[in-house]
Parts: sequence; C-alpha cells; structure tokens
Amino acid sequence: MSRRIEVNGLSKDFTLHLQGGQQMSILSGIDMQVDAGECVVIHAPSGAGKSTLLRSLYANYRASSGQVNIWHDGAWVDVQSAPARQVLTVRHHTLGFVTQFLRVIPRISTLDLVAEPLINRGVEKQVAHEQAEELLSRLRIPKRLWHIPPATFSGGEQQRVNIARTMICDYPILLLDEPTASLDEANRGTVIDMINAARERGVAVVGIFHDEAVRQALATRIFSIPAAQAVSLVAA
Ligand SMILES: Nc1ncnc2c1ncn2[C@@H]1O[C@H](COP(=O)(O)OP(=O)(O)OP(=O)(O)O)[C@@H](O)[C@H]1O
Ligand SMILES: [Mg+2]
Repeated sequence: MSRRIEVNGLSKDFTLHLQGGQQMSILSGIDMQVDAGECVVIHAPSGAGKSTLLRSLYANYRASSGQVNIWHDGAWVDVQSAPARQVLTVRHHTLGFVTQFLRVIPRISTLDLVAEPLINRGVEKQVAHEQAEELLSRLRIPKRLWHIPPATFSGGEQQRVNIARTMICDYPILLLDEPTASLDEANRGTVIDMINAARERGVAVVGIFHDEAVRQALATRIFSIPAAQAVSLVAA
C-alpha cells in the first residue's frame, strides 16, 4: 500500500507566557509513517500530546521543528512549511479532520452544514443534500432536527453532525480526535463501521480513541508517544 503521511523529527514546545515565558516540551523527535488502508491509533496518557500531534498533522499547530509530509495530488507537501494557501488546498481535498467539538455556525441548518463541504467541491446542491440526508439518517439524527442549526443539540448529536460533515467527502486521509467519545453504543457501532469501511477503501486513518473496545475494533497499529517524550520543561 502506498504511503500517505510521513512525519520526520516533529517537535512541539509551548511557551508559557504566564510562567515568565518558560518553555514546555510536549513532543520531541516524533517519526511516524501511515500508509493507505491503515488505521493508526495514537495512544498515550491524558496530557501526553495526542491532540497536539493530530493538530500538528493538520497544521493547526506550527511545530517547533520537523516535517509533516502529506501525500496530496500525486506529490508530497510538507504542511508545516507550505504556504497557508497550499495548506488550505491540502485540507480541502486530502485531509479530513473530525475534532472533538463541532464548530457551530449560527443560523446555518444542520443539513446545509453537512452538505457544505460537498457543495464547496462543486457538487450540485440537490445531490449534496441527498448525501447529507443519507448520512444524518444513518447516524440517527431525527428528521425534525435537520432544518435547524445544531447550536442547541446535545453533545452526542453535535458530534454526529461533525462526523457526517467530514465523512461526506471521502478524504484520502482522516484525522479523528475522539469521534466516538459522547456516543451511545448503537451510534458508536455505526461510526466504527464507517471508519472501517473508509479504511478498507484505502483511506489512511489516524485517530485517538480512549475506549479500549473502540481501539480494538479499529486499530491496525498502535502508535505510542514514546515514554521519553513525557512532558518536560526545557530551558528557555
Ligand atoms: N495551545 C497550547 N498552549 C499551551 N499548552 C498547550 C496548548 N495546547 C496543548 N497544550 C498542553 O500540551 C499538553 C498536551 O495536550 P494535548 O491536548 O495534546 O493532550 P492529549 O494527549 O490530547 O490529552 P487528552 O487525552 O486529555 O485529550 C497539555 O499539558 C496541554 O496543557
Ligand atoms: Mg486530546
């Protein structure tokens, strides 16, 4: 299977401005490769830097050093050093990211929110809406909620809308930060099936899942943030 992500020597320090500018080292020298058709689960204790690693893969965080090479449109792009415009293109076509919380956009209905990424890709509105309806049904979002904005939805409902909005696009790479954390068993099962189906189609998946049963159901490989990486303060 072909390689999709190649991380070389990734380090991330945070500057604690309220602590006199002291530096905290969260990740240091991370090397990681992910191939098409793999589901790599990042596993480490709370606070070890799992979300920081995922955000660095999405270039939400600028690393202190190292590369995050993403296979995009037949070539490697280091999203850590690429210009912002190119990072946006990579995100648009190649990198899907399910964050732990939905970023609610006021006054936009759930259906429009889920269909939006497809419409942005040039898919006809009616076709995009049909696919959004299919996903929302599959994820058990009741029809009465489709035409209102998800601002007032429960945590689990918002999480499922968030998943639908990403899964509608068939990205070659999926980054998942606890997508099943607030879901009941039936919905957790549905999301597991969706992720496994994506992986079997050749999608490269990197995810964080606290639940052992979910890890068992999804992981083709576990990536531990090395023990030596344990959070340390470094001289400023
Ligand atoms: N923007 C930031 N500024 C300063 N410190 C940060 C920032 N983001 C994360 N951290 C710190 O980095 C450490 C790792 O955070 P991260 O969210 O990556 O942990 P995690 O492994 O995902 O934990 P959890 O399992 O609880 O979600 C934490 O101590 C956190 O306080
Ligand atoms: Mg986290």
